Amino acid sequence: MDAPVFDYMRRYNFKKLVLCNDSDSGLRAVIAIHSTALGPATGGTRMWTYASEEAAIMDALRLARGMTYKYAAAGLDFGGGKAVIIGDPKRDKSEALLRAFGRMINQLGGEYQTGEDVGTTLDDMEVIYSETDHIVTLPVHCGGAGDIAPATALGSVEAMRACAARVWDDPELKGRRVALQGLGAVGWSALGMLLEHGAQVVVCDTDEAKVARAVKDYGVQSVSPAEIYDQDVDIFAPYALGGIINPETIPRLKVKIVAGSANNIFADEERDAAALDGRGIVYAVDYVANSGGTILDTDRFRKGGFQPERAMANVRAIFKRSEAVFEIADREGISAYLAANHMAEARIEALNRVRLLG
Ligand code: NAI
Repeated sequence: MDAPVFDYMRRYNFKKLVLCNDSDSGLRAVIAIHSTALGPATGGTRMWTYASEEAAIMDALRLARGMTYKYAAAGLDFGGGKAVIIGDPKRDKSEALLRAFGRMINQLGGEYQTGEDVGTTLDDMEVIYSETDHIVTLPVHCGGAGDIAPATALGSVEAMRACAARVWDDPELKGRRVALQGLGAVGWSALGMLLEHGAQVVVCDTDEAKVARAVKDYGVQSVSPAEIYDQDVDIFAPYALGGIINPETIPRLKVKIVAGSANNIFADEERDAAALDGRGIVYAVDYVANSGGTILDTDRFRKGGFQPERAMANVRAIFKRSEAVFEIADREGISAYLAANHMAEARIEALNRVRLLG
């Protein structure tokens, strides 16, 4: 293997990697536990047809580490973990496979808890839930928060408003022009919110039916997916894919702000974050901006059980957390991306120090 697993685990201080096999159901899964410093390692289960076993393992490791930062930066008491099931969700998923996976999670005794991700659904979580209690994302009828996309959208719009305050000394989005990429669960919800704020939005999606619906329901303008980067607007709002901020797209952007919900927006974090900084474009760090859904989802684990008002106040606090990221960036003379990482690391360190003393 080119990138030995133990080297990677040691470099980034991983705790554990679990390989799961169930020959009867065909389950082959990887559970990566990056950190339990703040609480149980938490992160969704991805089901995907990986090109190799190494690719599956490295994906689980990379994603698990990202979750440590996401929870720590969101002020939540969870560690970072992630699971991947190797296989085609349309062809290989079965009740037996999901239940076998649920038993594997259960055997970890709460060290890892899961939720939905690419290739898995809320219905799948309900099946896994029949084997283990260690599930974060659940339908409302199982005691979960149900659809979390609107909370993710709200958090991302709050992050966008914090960016606006940084650029124009005014968080209001009224009259601001926004190019919105992706009208899926989160993008659609964000579109409604942006229009309520009085923004002018131009949309795109590879799914023409979604675009037609946005034009019909909201009277917004639309462009083709290829043209979205070239719009003469104030804000580029990614709500679709990762990797879209890269050396090909950055020179095309005419905007002052990049803010949305898409995960891993940079093709290369350090290079592309620096390039945006170089062009004076303010951006919302993805894992801070898109933490609203996970904040809502995990509120039921806090003292007093699920309290929607507390959860939504914490989602809105993404505005303040985004401002805190900018303050660190200014103070330390670093990119917002690194500043968010420092904010997360500082919280983990501080709380562990408290624990050691206590
Ligand atoms: P989704 O799958 O419902 O929507 C994605 C949309 O993007 C689809 O409508 C798809 O047709 C469109 N799309 C795909 N390729 C495109 C392209 N090249 N140009 C324009 N549109 C394109 O996904 P969802 O749940 O709305 O998530 C959106 C992003 O936010 C993803 O990156 C996801 O990882 C991230 N995110 C979502 C959270 C949630 O609560 N659902 C939480 C945190 C992050």
